[in-house]
Amino acid sequence: EADVFTYDPGFTSTASCDSTITFIDGGKGELLHRGYPIDQLAEKSHYLEVCYLLLYGELPTAAQLEDFESRVTHHTMVHEQMHKFYSGFRRDAHPMAIMVGVVGAMSAFYHDSTDISDPWQREVASIRMIAKMPTIAAMAFKYTIGQPFVYPRNDLDYASNFLRMCFAVPAQEYEVNPILSRAMDRIFTLHADHEQNASTSTVRLASSSGANPFASIAAGIACLWGPAHGGANQACLEMLQEIGTVDRIPEFIARAKDKDDPFRLMGFGHRVYKNFDPRATVMKQSADEVLDLLGVEDNPILQVAKELEKQALNDPYFADKKLFPNVDFYSGIILEAMGFPTSMFTPIFALSRTVGWISQWKEMISDPTMKIGRPRQLYTGETQRNYVEVEDR
Ligand code: SDX
Repeated sequence: EADVFTYDPGFTSTASCDSTITFIDGGKGELLHRGYPIDQLAEKSHYLEVCYLLLYGELPTAAQLEDFESRVTHHTMVHEQMHKFYSGFRRDAHPMAIMVGVVGAMSAFYHDSTDISDPWQREVASIRMIAKMPTIAAMAFKYTIGQPFVYPRNDLDYASNFLRMCFAVPAQEYEVNPILSRAMDRIFTLHADHEQNASTSTVRLASSSGANPFASIAAGIACLWGPAHGGANQACLEMLQEIGTVDRIPEFIARAKDKDDPFRLMGFGHRVYKNFDPRATVMKQSADEVLDLLGVEDNPILQVAKELEKQALNDPYFADKKLFPNVDFYSGIILEAMGFPTSMFTPIFALSRTVGWISQWKEMISDPTMKIGRPRQLYTGETQRNYVEVEDR
């Protein structure tokens, strides 16, 4: 019998790492980016300023912010040949499948930002990823709904550009409503980074081998897609739509509590937060604002969400297990009200989280002591034994 208690799995740097970017206190429901609380950033800052903070560690001066925003703006177009890449997908492909493929192939288009040993190339890759993800996501959306791609414009802010690339058509210009654009920007900010979640750890592990940044980000997109992670916003809205009316909530709460039923309340629970997810609190306020603006404050889905939250929070099962709404619980309601199909919810999460993936990637590969990630295991299989000829088995 192998003595598992003396067997050291030898966890490597990527199983757990030190970082200066984001701090989470799951017990207090606290989230800090470079020391700044998420609720202050969501209220007072905007996404590109938060990108600067995550990338470089400090809030920018006015001149630094203007230069950064200009560099991002002037990288928002994608190589024209990338348009042809989309036409290889079926029109009913999930936009996340398209994003994994397109981002994974970006090293074939941007050879001059793949050498991670070159600080200049690392910087260009970072700016390109942040700048192009809204364009790539919007193109995935347009492709799957059979509409022509819309090019980015340099006179629009980051969130307005994304909304226009998604909703403008040649026959009808899209006038961006500043309140919707602010709500979109806030959704980007609330999803920007979140310490060592599954997709960020995937990006760290992939890039620890020296893989180029585009391939590493594509690995993160693939991981984020799962319904237990970034796919939860789509799964949550589909769950609320399935519940449909307030009187069916008890049935679903009972299923979520039933050990023999694999159903879980999507948008509830978290690996780290054992208190309210501070992002969910801000998202809930934003949902009220957006639906009020759109004149759909009596949206039945929002009524179901609010009543479900109230009943779950008053149920001892969820309280005992410290299950609270997470960032995905309200985001889908806002995105649906804005006109996005559920299939675009996770691509928007991926777009938002790109700066977190890139910031953590830069932090890790800039560390000269970095080693390739090689998590170990606690082996619980057979001890050594000799081969048995087939006739003797
Ligand atoms: C994100 O890591 C990050 O930071 C992720 C993220 C980010 O920004 O990157 O915050 C984004 O992924 C948010 C999470 C989105 N996922 C969902 O909303 C899917 C529904 N939630 C769950 O699948 C679940 O809560 C997880 C996956 C999020 C966490 O899984 P755990 O670690 O198993 O949950 P837990 O330890 O908190 O569970 C404690 C108990 C378990 O029961 P027991 O085995 O102890 O009897 O609560 C149960 C779970 O079965 N439970 C739920 C539940 N979540 C956990 N029961 C019903 N409904 C749920 N949603």
